[in-house]
Amino acid sequence: MRRILVTSALPYANGQIHLGHLVETIQTDIWVRFQKLRGNECHYFCADDTHGTPVMIRARNEGIPPEALVERMHREHLADFLGFHIAFDNYYSTNSLENRILSEEIYIKNRENGHIRTSSVRQAYCEHDQMFLPDRFIRGACPTCGAEGQYGDACEACSRTYAPLDLRDPVCALCGAPPVERESEHFFFRLSEFESFLKQWTHSGAVQTEMANKLDEWFTAGLQDWDISRDGPYFGFEIPDAPGKYFYVWLDAPVGYMASCWEWCKRHGRDFDAFWRQADQAEVYHFIGKDILYFHTLFWPAMLHGAGFRAPTAVFTHGFLTVNGQKMSKSRGTFITARDYLDQGLDPEYLRYYYAGKLTPRVDDLDLNLEDFVLRVNSDLVGKVVNIASRTAGFINKRFFGRLTEAYPDDGGLHQRFVEAGVEIADLYETRDFAKAMRIIMTLADQANRFVEAQAPWNLAKDPARAEELHATCTIALNLFRLLMLYLQPVLPVMAERSREFLRIPPFALEQADTPLCGHTIGEFLHLAVRVDPKKTESLLHQAAPPPVAVVVPSPSPAPFVAEPLAETIDIETFARMDLRVARIESAEAVPGADKLLRLTLDLGELGKRTVFAGIRAAYAPESLPGRLTVMVANLQPRKMRFGVSEGMVLAAGPGGGDLFLLTPESGAQPGMRIR
Ligand code: MSP
Ligand code: ZN
Repeated sequence: MRRILVTSALPYANGQIHLGHLVETIQTDIWVRFQKLRGNECHYFCADDTHGTPVMIRARNEGIPPEALVERMHREHLADFLGFHIAFDNYYSTNSLENRILSEEIYIKNRENGHIRTSSVRQAYCEHDQMFLPDRFIRGACPTCGAEGQYGDACEACSRTYAPLDLRDPVCALCGAPPVERESEHFFFRLSEFESFLKQWTHSGAVQTEMANKLDEWFTAGLQDWDISRDGPYFGFEIPDAPGKYFYVWLDAPVGYMASCWEWCKRHGRDFDAFWRQADQAEVYHFIGKDILYFHTLFWPAMLHGAGFRAPTAVFTHGFLTVNGQKMSKSRGTFITARDYLDQGLDPEYLRYYYAGKLTPRVDDLDLNLEDFVLRVNSDLVGKVVNIASRTAGFINKRFFGRLTEAYPDDGGLHQRFVEAGVEIADLYETRDFAKAMRIIMTLADQANRFVEAQAPWNLAKDPARAEELHATCTIALNLFRLLMLYLQPVLPVMAERSREFLRIPPFALEQADTPLCGHTIGEFLHLAVRVDPKKTESLLHQAAPPPVAVVVPSPSPAPFVAEPLAETIDIETFARMDLRVARIESAEAVPGADKLLRLTLDLGELGKRTVFAGIRAAYAPESLPGRLTVMVANLQPRKMRFGVSEGMVLAAGPGGGDLFLLTPESGAQPGMRIR
């Protein structure tokens, strides 16, 4: 029996779990469940990645301590993952005592071994906010192409990368003040000293071939020492013997894998050292996305090695999720959270199955095409797999008192072929080629369905003389179904459990595959799956689009309403970032296929024209609008809706429907004027 420790990358505590994260946790969870099904000792550890500037700033904006924010996010993240049946052995936090102790140990051992140095660094500093500014907190014009409003690390318009202070007219993203340059002492991890260790580790099979090639490029370019410290204020762990200096979040983040394991070990009386200090007692695997390869295959193994810990057995990298062929993005409406999906009442196992059908050991991106999703799930799970049992279980119950035949009937070798395929399917799970495993399982399901159709139990049932044949056919079909559910269990744990429940059999284990079930009484068939309603997947995209109208004040003709709770507090700077302008409605027209929307062309005077989709059709006839002035949010990022790009938002108030009133600026307003 192997002892295996598995992790998924730790989600940042400053954002919600989305369908991209789920590619990773579902991939990992399937692999872990497979290992357990195979009888290996396997543990799945994860945690929230809590430290860093974004969490600190967000907590400050919400007026709560970062610990409170982190706690709330932890609850939400865990609930989302549980909603998708992700079976962590422990889901912990990097903001924990265990993580502090281990991070300090790793740092101090590396320091004792001479792998840490200090040097002085010049960095952007905001005198107003009294803090050094991470790249993402500086904005300005790109030094190459001049595009405005770029972040301090790279230009989204021309893709050039640069140092933050190279931006033209840089400003602090928090307060708008121009930053100054300031010097401070930083701690560096001497990565370059680990080159030969890392080369050897990389070529020990620890990474996929494509990733080993990427690493070779980095070796050729030369390994750079790594800046592991940040100056306060910073939400993180203070560096031992260096007051006011904190570990950079990426130092303590991967240590979170160990912390999660350690906390679990303490609760279960298990030996932490067997996982992390000795290399021969356990296997350690990290599942990650391709964007964080550098951290996991260079810094992390080197830091562990430098501190006398074992290195991971392997790091498995996957590609990125796209939705309907597009990068997930809030402005495109393709950013779908785990919660959005669950709130639609969509079955989490359907997403698990769909991802399984697309996951390979390679690093290719994978696409969630929502039409394809509906087809796949309906045809494979409902049409093929569940169908086998739903068409045969009833006869066993009604005609044979629920009892399968005493001996297994002659099925022309069908069951045996299913058993043999199980060996290949297990290999494919092991090597993370879930896509191929799903294809083979569905080919088996096709064979089972062909068998059922050829035997036509519904015809046999009409002829009392053929009862024995009917009994045999249904016994065989249910046995084939049982093997399919066994093979699908890592992907569909709940459906597998419900199947076991109605078959009245104990938990599956791979090694019992070759003994067919006979002389056994089953229970009533349990409903296992419903077809996906395409409306639900459509509204996933719809839901991701912004609400077209901002309701800001109660209706002048008061109707009873329940006040929504107040939204999160924003500070005055955040408010001031909203640019409200007077706009003249130049034209308004109905949008075919969208009965709530009007397409407005808005004139902002010298600032040009904008197209905005507004959900005010029930309140305003399009012909009544041209010429009137209204108020719009003019600096809202354009977003793609189903009917076109919306370049802002008009403000309206009222309970909604026909009772909605466009805000009107005071008289004397001119198109383009800013409203403060
Ligand atoms: N906090 C770091 C990881 C620290 S691990 C010691 C981080 N967090 S994250 O929330 O941004 O991402 C968590 C994982 O989800 C990463 O492996 C990342 O690659 C993965 N994904 C995030 N967006 C994704 C897609 N759109 N598609 C697939 N995986 C994606 O990085
Ligand atoms: Zn500032």
